[in-house]
Parts: sequence; C-alpha cells; structure tokens
Amino acid sequence: MFSNQAQVKDMAMSKIELLQVGSYPDWVQAVLEQTYVMHRYFEVPQTAAGQAAADQAAFLARVGGAIRGIATRGDLGADAAMIAALPKLEVIAVYGVGYDGVDLAAAQARGIRVTNTPDVLTGDVADLAVGMWLAGRRRMVEADAWARSGNWAAKGAFPITRRAFGKSAGILGLGRIGRAIGDRLQGFGMQISYTSRAAKATPGWQHIEGAVALAEVSDVMFVALAATPDTRHIVDARVLAALGPDGMLVNISRAANVDEAALIAALRDGSLGAAALDVFDGEPAYDPAFQNVPNLLMQPHIGSGTLETRLAMAELMCDNLAAHFAGQPLLTPVI
Ligand code: 8YV
Repeated sequence: MFSNQAQVKDMAMSKIELLQVGSYPDWVQAVLEQTYVMHRYFEVPQTAAGQAAADQAAFLARVGGAIRGIATRGDLGADAAMIAALPKLEVIAVYGVGYDGVDLAAAQARGIRVTNTPDVLTGDVADLAVGMWLAGRRRMVEADAWARSGNWAAKGAFPITRRAFGKSAGILGLGRIGRAIGDRLQGFGMQISYTSRAAKATPGWQHIEGAVALAEVSDVMFVALAATPDTRHIVDARVLAALGPDGMLVNISRAANVDEAALIAALRDGSLGAAALDVFDGEPAYDPAFQNVPNLLMQPHIGSGTLETRLAMAELMCDNLAAHFAGQPLLTPVI
C-alpha cells in the first residue's frame, strides 16, 4: 500500500517526525507509523478540566522542535498557533479536499507547503448530496421509522411527500463536487442553475449571479462551495426565504457556509420546506436546537466516508508527504 513510503524510510537516517492532528482509520495509521514518528495531538491527555488547550500547547512545546510535517484532516486543519509552535515545519498534508481549517497565510509566510486530496472524493460526496436530497424530499428516514414502529399497521399509510425529479436545482458553487452533483441531477430531469465566479461550459445549465437569485429559481439548493471567510453564512435568512416553504437546502460543504440559527428558525416556522445537512458548526458536537427541528435530515459528515474513497485519500495524502520529503513535486499542492 502507498508505494512511496519505503523511499521516505530509506532516505531519512532517523524517522521523520510528524504531528498528527486527528485520528485516521487503523490501516492509514499503520502506514504512517511504518514511515514516520507520529505525534498524536488529538490524544494529548487533559490534566484538569479546562486545561486541554494548555496541555496541547505544552505538548507542542515539548515535541514541536523536531516536527517537519503536519498530517491533518479536512475537518480539523492547522491553525496559526499550531504552525507557529513548529519551527521546522515544512509541509501540511490534509486528508480531505477542504483546507479552510488551515491558516494558509501563516503557512505561506514561512514557505510551508500545503496539500489536499481533491478529485478522489468528488464522486462519493456528490452521491451523498443526491442521496440526502432524495431521502429528505421523500422523508425516507421517517418512513422507515413509520414502518418499523408499527404505525403503518396501526395508523395506515405514511403521509404523502413531494416529488423530487423534474424540478429545478440550484448548485451554489460549481467546482468539482458541484459539477458532479449537476451531472447526477441530469438523470433526474432537473433544470439546473448554478453560481460560480464566471459562467462555465455546461450542458445547458443556467449561470446565476448570487445566492438569493439562485434560491429564487430553485426547488432544491445544493451548497457545494469551498468555505472561505467570504462565503461565511452565504446561505442566510434571505436565501432561505427565497427557497421558500416548498424549497429544500442540502449542505455537503462546510457548516460555515450556512447561518444555522436562521436555518433552524426557517424550518421551525415552515418558511423553508426541508433541509439535509452533512456538516455542522462545532461538529461532532452540534447546536442542540437541531434535535427537534422538523423536516431535517442529519448526516454525521460522511460525504467522503467510503472505504474506496478514504483509501484513495490516504494514499494521496501519504504520497504528497513522501514526495515532499523526497524533494519531488507535490501531487496535489494547495500552496
Ligand atoms: C474530510 C472533508 O476529509 O474532504 C473534506 O474536506 O470534509 C472530509 O472528507 C474528513 O475530515 C475526513 O475525516
């Protein structure tokens, strides 16, 4: 697995030391441990309540001097304080496509390279977005509970829902994942509109300027934007009102792109018809107000969560690290 690892091991007289920000599947951990000394930031013991940050800072002060790379995840990143604590840091490798959690300015200021794992996860994330749309629109999770609970026999048919196919879909952000979602929606006979910095070559999809304008022409809106400071809460109360009581929001990007308080309020008062979310502010914890919100499908950030994709992500992350330490071109550089 991950052919380049041996090269790294042979090359370094002593094992290269990495900071590992979050957990990986066992089979990824095993490959990394074979090749590198992995300092597990996420396992730093908390010495007392409220001491976690201090304990982690002390850990970095203790081991940071020897660390040449960070292995992180799309949902975790690497902030400026972590980067500053590693004087020999050369590269930050993200297991994921989203690098919004990495302080690029801090990395760039020191010439630290950053890599991510685009393309290999596009299909699975797009599949989940379409699956969430169908499951949410047809209320399949509630219908499953209806069948299992005995309500079907006791109370009769599950309430009718709303048609999904043949309507209008808006894609907020036509990057790799947004386009893959559009390609899938074609099969459902959807009229597709999208936002992007500039109109793109598409099979007859309509380029729209702005999230509100996109929502106004969409029965369902898929949020597929990379999260940046400029996109924070781009889906706000105005956008949700424009989607309307028959409209649906699907978010497989980052929670930061959606004003969660406005979303909860819109679902509760019925001014938005439904939502399906794979990402949440503060995940894996999330706003407890989501617990009793109607017409909401929640997924625990599983967009890229298939064996095939996570293997490919791991291989790409490891190959980027191996390329860096071998002085070779990075496979998927961000900077
Ligand atoms: C992460 C994601 O990789 O790709 C991303 O940016 O959000 C996910 O696919 C996830 O953090 C994997 O643990």
